[in-house]
Amino acid sequence: MLENDLILRAARGEKTERTPVWVMRQAGRILPEYRAVRAKLSGFKELVETPELAAEVTIQPVDHLGVDAAIIFSDILVIPEAMGLQYEMIEKKGPIFPSTIQSASDLNKIHVAQADELSYTIEAIKITKKELNGRVPVIGFAGAPWTIFAYMIEGAGSKTFSKARKMLYTNPELSHQLMEMITESTIAYLKGQIEAGADMVQVFDSWAGILPADQYREFSIRYISAICKSITEVPVTVFAKGAYFALKDIKNLSCDTVGLDWNMDIAEAKELLNNKTLQGNLDPCVLYGSDEQVISATQSMLDQFKGHHHIANLGHGVYPDTNPKKVKLFIDTVKGYN
Ligand code: CP3
Repeated sequence: MLENDLILRAARGEKTERTPVWVMRQAGRILPEYRAVRAKLSGFKELVETPELAAEVTIQPVDHLGVDAAIIFSDILVIPEAMGLQYEMIEKKGPIFPSTIQSASDLNKIHVAQADELSYTIEAIKITKKELNGRVPVIGFAGAPWTIFAYMIEGAGSKTFSKARKMLYTNPELSHQLMEMITESTIAYLKGQIEAGADMVQVFDSWAGILPADQYREFSIRYISAICKSITEVPVTVFAKGAYFALKDIKNLSCDTVGLDWNMDIAEAKELLNNKTLQGNLDPCVLYGSDEQVISATQSMLDQFKGHHHIANLGHGVYPDTNPKKVKLFIDTVKGYN
């Protein structure tokens, strides 16, 4: 039984006493307690792959920030790795894939992943659930197929992801084959997370905003839709960053909650997505401002979401150099609002 199920009720479109709040990328990055755990290890991956420690840093924001949910500490890139493409996380730079997918024959290097190939995250969820003992729900997550595809082709982060975008034009058949493999792997992984105790799941389409609308429909929405249809056990949130042009398609997904980034117009989203709970969307850079700025921007955001089922959050992940006190102020402002 959960002591605090505000976020689940909000996701299901039920009434809540106040707006629930959590912060994307809250597990790690900003907390000194996270850095202390991380500093003892060889790197990011060791933390992801050690369930006891992953559970520990998952719970830190619940203790230190007072958020209404824990998000399991992992990364979206564990899916390509389980499929057969190893990644390395380079300190201060980001992920690198030594081997990528460039041609149809490269598909022989990979396979559809099963949840038991990601047993470290599954185990971390079980430990987190046990240690949280019902204080707040646990959010599971995965990347959307298009965003995962982008890393598997590109092999690293990129401003344009032009290699991945080129593949959609030059080899649409291979693109669809790979998207299908990613989609199947993701569904198996999310179901594994749910079996382990995840109370809701979020799909991150971080690179949604770089595709033209027609390609977004063909190569992303189609696969996100398949994921949403397969996950019927718990509420599903879709966060498609920059996908203003696709809100009408997103409306038709069988998800419960839609994440909005800080560029999205709240009034327009409320009207278009009248069948969904909305999540977001404070500009993460507001948290660099003064206390007064954080409070007034948060209140103004809450004013704008009034009359709609809402889960307060930032419009994207919190930036690593954000002062945790400002994050706490954001959270406390949401909790104290009425
Ligand atoms: O909310 C949480 O903190 C839970 C864990 C989480 C991480 N990554 C841990 C992480 C989540 C939900 C993610 C998602 C993720 N990972 C996304 C989608 C969300 C988004 O921000 O758009 C993407 C695109 C990635 C891929 C990724 N992981 C990149 C590009 C990088 C390097 C740059 C960066 O963001 O820090 C990572 C590394 C990463 N993933 C870190 C953490 C805490 C920092 C590495 C470290 O601690 O050494």
